[in-house]
Order: sequence, then C-alpha cells, then structure tokens
Amino acid sequence: MENYYKSLLDNNKAWVAETLEKDASYFDNLAKGQQPPVLWIGCADSRVPANQIIGAQPGEVFVHRNIANMVIHSDINMLSVLDYAVNVLKVKHVIVCGHYGCGGVQTAMTNKQVGIIDNWIRHIKDVYRFHKDELNAISNEQERFDRFVELNVFEQVQDLAKTSIIQNAWERKQEIHLHGWVYGINNGIIKDLDITLRDNHSLEVVDQVGV
Ligand code: CO
Repeated sequence: MENYYKSLLDNNKAWVAETLEKDASYFDNLAKGQQPPVLWIGCADSRVPANQIIGAQPGEVFVHRNIANMVIHSDINMLSVLDYAVNVLKVKHVIVCGHYGCGGVQTAMTNKQVGIIDNWIRHIKDVYRFHKDELNAISNEQERFDRFVELNVFEQVQDLAKTSIIQNAWERKQEIHLHGWVYGINNGIIKDLDITLRDNHSLEVVDQVGV
C-alpha cells in the first residue's frame, strides 16, 4: 500500500522528465494562463477521466465532477465553476457527460439507504419520476438502466440551460453550446445524445421533442 502511494510521486517525476524532454518550455507555457474552450461536467467515477477519453491536453478542459454528473441549482460548487467558466474563461462548449453503469444512477433505481449520498441521489430519483412512463415500459433491466443514464444527462443539460448563468450569457448573445454525452465504460465510446442547446429557442424545441 505504501509502495503504491510512493509510486504515484515517482510517476509524477518520470512524467515531468518525459514532458520536458519533448518540450523544454511546456510548463512555462502552461503557467502563462488558461483559455480552455470546454467545460466538462462529469461523474466522479474513477473510470471516466475527462481529458484522457477525448484526447485533450492540459489547458483544454475546465472540469467539474460529482456523483452522477448532476447540475443542481443550489450546488454552490457547480455554480461557481460554471460562473467562472462562462463569465471569465468564456468557454464555447459545456459538456455534461454521463456514463453507462453509473453507480449513482443505479442506486437511484433502488430504495436502499446508503448514507448521506441518499440526499444527492434524491435528485436522480426525480429524473426517474419525470420519465417513469417511458422507463417502466422497458422490461429489460439493463436497457432500463442505460436509458435512465441517458435521460439523467438530458435533464442535467436542461437544468444547465435554465441556470441564470447560461440564460444571461445567451441573453447577451455569448456563443455557448450545451451538449449531452454518455460514455461507455465497457467500450470507451462516447454517444452524443444530439441534444445540443445554443439558445432558448433550441431549448424550447428540445423541451417539446424530448429525447
Ligand atoms: Co457515475
């Protein structure tokens, strides 16, 4: 266990050496500042590392992760990240990326008490309630779970669009696109749910059509 811990620091030293060998001014350039085009809102799951799965370099993706990639209107952490990303960094895209096999979403399909996380899961249970007709009609449990993951992303993108931060950005014609993705842990492939929102008009269209 101690060896494993120590290996992390050794890995860091090796990575720095390797990086500097390729580009001696790499860290000098990074230290000048960031202008990432993307804000990523993803799950805290250790198997979904934002940069790695989209081939993005340090400096490209501003990241917020929590259990089940939720956008909760009273979450001051998420709102602070979103505010900074939109109003200071001026990101062009906000991606909500869920993943199949999400433990948070799976827990929301049960009535088991887990602990303090139950209060967080409560919001995911609300997503089930909004879509219970569609979800209850899916008899295969795995398929129902997969669809619930997708619908949860859909709802988080909708909630994102309705934050005052995004509403104000669109109001002043700031270009910012919201996207919903689902990552497949078992194959590495990202499914674009094609629910991109660019303004309140597209929000209304998606609201009517569903997903
Ligand atoms: Co997850």
